[in-house]
Amino acid sequence: MTSYKELGLCNTVDLFKKAVAGGYAIPAYNFNNMEQMQAIIQACVETRSPVIMQVSSGARKYANSNLLRNMARGAVEYAAELGYKIPIVLHLDHGDSYELCVDCIENGFSSVMIDGSSLPYDENVALTRKVCEYAHSRKDYVSVEGELGVLAGVEDEVSSEHSHYTQPSEVQDFVKKTGVDSLAISIGTSHGRMKFKPEQCTRTADGVLIPPPLRFDILAEIEKRLPGFPIVLHGSSSVPIEYVKLIEKFGGKLSDSVGIPEEQLRRASKSAVCKINIDSDGRLAMTAIVRKVFAEKPDEFDPRKYLGPARDELKKLYMHKNKEVLGSAGQA
Ligand code: G3H
Ligand code: 13P
Ligand code: ZN
Repeated sequence: MTSYKELGLCNTVDLFKKAVAGGYAIPAYNFNNMEQMQAIIQACVETRSPVIMQVSSGARKYANSNLLRNMARGAVEYAAELGYKIPIVLHLDHGDSYELCVDCIENGFSSVMIDGSSLPYDENVALTRKVCEYAHSRKDYVSVEGELGVLAGVEDEVSSEHSHYTQPSEVQDFVKKTGVDSLAISIGTSHGRMKFKPEQCTRTADGVLIPPPLRFDILAEIEKRLPGFPIVLHGSSSVPIEYVKLIEKFGGKLSDSVGIPEEQLRRASKSAVCKINIDSDGRLAMTAIVRKVFAEKPDEFDPRKYLGPARDELKKLYMHKNKEVLGSAGQA
């Protein structure tokens, strides 16, 4: 049994309070290997940003939970070694069972998400409350994120054909009955690199898809009913066209890619949205650079020669997000 405090991590409670009051969002970047972890820490130390390092259940299976716990400990020490101690949260992304949340909490996670969003409302309430009761009764309080509303999109562990917007009429009751510390909502974002079907979008003259806007009206209604309560946006990659083009130039096929425009995420960050989840953009950045290296240097076979440049690109991307999109730079 390991408490997150032994690893030098923190929970989200104070971070979210400050982010809501300060009109910015904390980045929640997914990781499952060393290069991603290095890029996250380098970018967040250099921009003086607090950070949530998140691990999906698929990532946990891929990387091994012991290794991930020790990577989180290493991340704290690495940040200090780089010269600035930033607040670091280790968060379970899309926890799908009480048992998984307990296992993560006992293994050093400082925050968990229990995703009961695909369950009937009462079952979502009961499961989320059970996780909160356990997480909040620990000597070191572990924060819990719940979800209402369903995001469309296909990922390894998260899959739903259709999205359902969060119903503002449910949010007060859900928060009161469960005791969650933050609430993920559905206002039009979705997982993966194809956030909308082409028929839901318009196109520019050169064929680039323009997505429909996020439902800021639903967000405003939720904020009215839960003043100052921490709100989370999943599925918030912007799917930069430059990466898509680079991947396609070097042999990839990513047709109909479309993400959430950065200006809309910037606007959301200024509201009670205080955690923004980004995974796909990092995948695109790394893939683009790895493909480029392989195409331009066909005789290269040292992993450091393609993972290194991919890591550098990821760091650049995250620095940009912290400074220009989420507004978290300078807040650590
Ligand atoms: O929301 C899901 C994240 O992008 C994690 O994806 O389950 O493939 O690790 P994954
Ligand atoms: P993206 O697929 O848009 O990066 O979303 C990631 C996410 O929501 C992780 O929980
Ligand atoms: Zn998600």
